[in-house]
Amino acid sequence: MSDQHVSHLVAIVGAANVLLGDDTLAYVTDYRGVFRGQALAVVRPGCTEEVSAVMTYCYENGIPVVPQGGNTSLLGGSVPDTSGKAVVLALTRLNHIRHIDELNATMVVEAGVTLIAARTTAEEAGTLFPLRIGSEGSCQIGGNLSTNAGGTAVLRYGNMRDLVLGLEVVLPNGKVWNGLRALRKDNAGYDLKHLFIGSEGTLGIITAAVLKLFPRPRAVCVALLGVETADAALQTFGLLRQRLGTDVTAFELISEDAMTLVLSHLGRQHSPLMTLHPWHVLVEMSSTATQEDADAIFVTTLSEAAERGLISDAAIAANEKQVADFWLIREEISDAQTRTRGSVRCDVSVPLSSIPAFIRETSAKVLAAAPETRMVVYGHVGDGNVHFNPLRPGNMTPESYLNRHGDSITRIVDQAAMDLQGSISAEHGVGTAKRDELLNVRSQVELEIGWRVKQALDPLNLLNPGKVLPELPSAA
Ligand code: FAD
Ligand code: LAC
Ligand code: ZN
Repeated sequence: MSDQHVSHLVAIVGAANVLLGDDTLAYVTDYRGVFRGQALAVVRPGCTEEVSAVMTYCYENGIPVVPQGGNTSLLGGSVPDTSGKAVVLALTRLNHIRHIDELNATMVVEAGVTLIAARTTAEEAGTLFPLRIGSEGSCQIGGNLSTNAGGTAVLRYGNMRDLVLGLEVVLPNGKVWNGLRALRKDNAGYDLKHLFIGSEGTLGIITAAVLKLFPRPRAVCVALLGVETADAALQTFGLLRQRLGTDVTAFELISEDAMTLVLSHLGRQHSPLMTLHPWHVLVEMSSTATQEDADAIFVTTLSEAAERGLISDAAIAANEKQVADFWLIREEISDAQTRTRGSVRCDVSVPLSSIPAFIRETSAKVLAAAPETRMVVYGHVGDGNVHFNPLRPGNMTPESYLNRHGDSITRIVDQAAMDLQGSISAEHGVGTAKRDELLNVRSQVELEIGWRVKQALDPLNLLNPGKVLPELPSAA
């Protein structure tokens, strides 16, 4: 980077917040170590005005900018390419909770606030911010918004898009849009915040947000169930929804191979169920009833599921410690895969009614193409979201498995989801990894709308270039 650029950026954010050379390394490789790039510099502004000044400078000097939150996203959206031309704009220092309005049930937070800090702040105020994902200790609200994160409480509370009322955004040219409105009704024109949510940092830099808060449930009930088929798991879900309504907060499916992998990762001999089943379900109910009343209806409903032959085993968490312990098993599956290496990670969604057929048929195709693959299949099945992540057999290296089967397995899984009117990316976004696949799954009209929006907001294509939108031959 020219000394002139460095001194301008230093003048805006201070020398300690312009990182160069080896100091950039942690910012140019993603969490899993799969995507690696290079940066001219990492710049860490401390407030919205500094973000605006950095963006203005980069815009005027044709410098690409890659926004970065906790760098935990899984598809390469948060790291620069290998050209070394881009500035990584790390939002970490925008980490203030600006305001809590208890009656309005809202909280204004800056983009760099970690998800765990947002949840803890809400909790300390006697309320709930419900987004729950395994990376909560590192991921940031700006990243959660930019990926429209999902996670394990979507059933009851929705995706990140559903949890936000207003945004503050710095545009690629440095202009600041203050849309920090805390209104649950506001139809005065286009709802612009939705352009930025889920756009993976390609349209603007989110600097702050008005988040929705919810009443804290009085009672939480969690159980791990053993089920013999995915179909039985889905029928169990139907029964729980009938009996417990929206109190069903999470319904997570875990295959036998996924359970075996995570138990070994955690150094445990067995799950709370003691034996393995072809499928396991982690179910959570939360309620405003007393714990005693909630427990009673939870147990009655699970007994009904057992009587109907839908579940073959159940372990109910007896206290908060066990609740956390059951959840740890679920949350650690992703890291267990990262550590084992050699997983083909597919994050698809299909209509709930198609899940059993999707799993059955896709597993058969994958096993035919890559025998002895371990079927690490899990996910937020109550949302129709399956993390279908075939894992190399123990006797194959990660490299040989991925080189030989990675692309073909991805094609099998994504095609199967598309054949069932599903999505090739349920909650993890597009990044660079899925970018070109959009050409196959989105119509020309839809892609062109995307490019027009991009051109309107980022005419010089400087903000997170090469992410999300495939190159369109006609996009000039
Ligand atoms: P980053 O990875 O830093 O960035 C993500 C994207 O947003 C990038 O394109 C980046 O350029 C852009 N960006 C970041 N901050 C801003 C900003 N302020 N303004 C504009 N653009 C910005 N995801 C789920 O949806 N559900 C899960 O259950 C889930 N579980 C996970 C479990 C583990 C163990 C891990 C490692 C990841 C998991 N993820 C999950 C993926 C990831 O944590 C989420 O996508 C998260 O929302 C990313 O937040 P981040 O702050 O790390 O964003
Ligand atoms: C999970 C991530 C991988 O659900 O989305 O664990
Ligand atoms: Zn997930």
